[in-house]
Amino acid sequence: MVLCPVDYHKQEYWEERFANEDQFEWLGDFSRFAPFIERHVNKSDRILHLGCGNSNLALDMVSCGYVDITNVDYSATVVDRMRRRSQEFLRKHVDTFSTKICLQWLTADCLAMTSHPDLGQVKYDVVLDKTLADAICCGDSEDHPLLQQLAQQVMQMLKPGGFWISISYSQHRSFEDLTPAQGQYRWQVQYYPVEAPKEHIDDVIYTPTVYHYCYVCQKVPVE
Ligand SMILES: C[S@@+](CC[C@H](N)C(=O)[O-])C[C@H]1O[C@@H](n2cnc3c(N)ncnc32)[C@H](O)[C@@H]1O
Repeated sequence: MVLCPVDYHKQEYWEERFANEDQFEWLGDFSRFAPFIERHVNKSDRILHLGCGNSNLALDMVSCGYVDITNVDYSATVVDRMRRRSQEFLRKHVDTFSTKICLQWLTADCLAMTSHPDLGQVKYDVVLDKTLADAICCGDSEDHPLLQQLAQQVMQMLKPGGFWISISYSQHRSFEDLTPAQGQYRWQVQYYPVEAPKEHIDDVIYTPTVYHYCYVCQKVPVE
């Protein structure tokens, strides 16, 4: 069990927070992680973005040429807000895009996506999360293996050869160990530390370098 001072794994926490918060970007914006995402994701790929919150990640990706992003969060408040924000964004930038943009916003629990009528039928090239796995980990335990449940859901949502890109605070995510016990596929993992911007703190002489982590997990067959 990860000890968290805040209930990041609880839906009530997020609903309450989103009632008052318009925009917040956990771990910083798309530009920080773009080099790693671009290495593994084609512009035309079908992307599933989990735990989107009120982040501008999907809109920033569309501005960079990605055309097909389905965004999921279990907070209906934030999904409604983001749907409105994206309609406004697309209207404003309509002349900039040469291809049709498919930007969807769905209210769904990422731990039960495969039974969702609009998600369960589709396979994605890429699943992307920025700190969703971190939030879910706050409720993870031997009795409630939530991260494993998430990994199994993501495995089923991906095409063979597809990538789960998980951007995290944690240096210690063992995605390899989250492979379903008797599955046909496993995760082949690469990970990239990304130096966090230094905060300016007056009168502090030593500020240690902090890293965030970009895990790239490919769905590959078990040999
Ligand atoms: C730490 S925030 C990250 C938000 C955004 N990705 C960002 O980087 O700024 C975690 C998000 O995951 C959502 N979330 C947590 N558990 C979820 C679940 N089981 N299903 C769907 N969304 C979930 C929360 O509502 C919240 O928007």
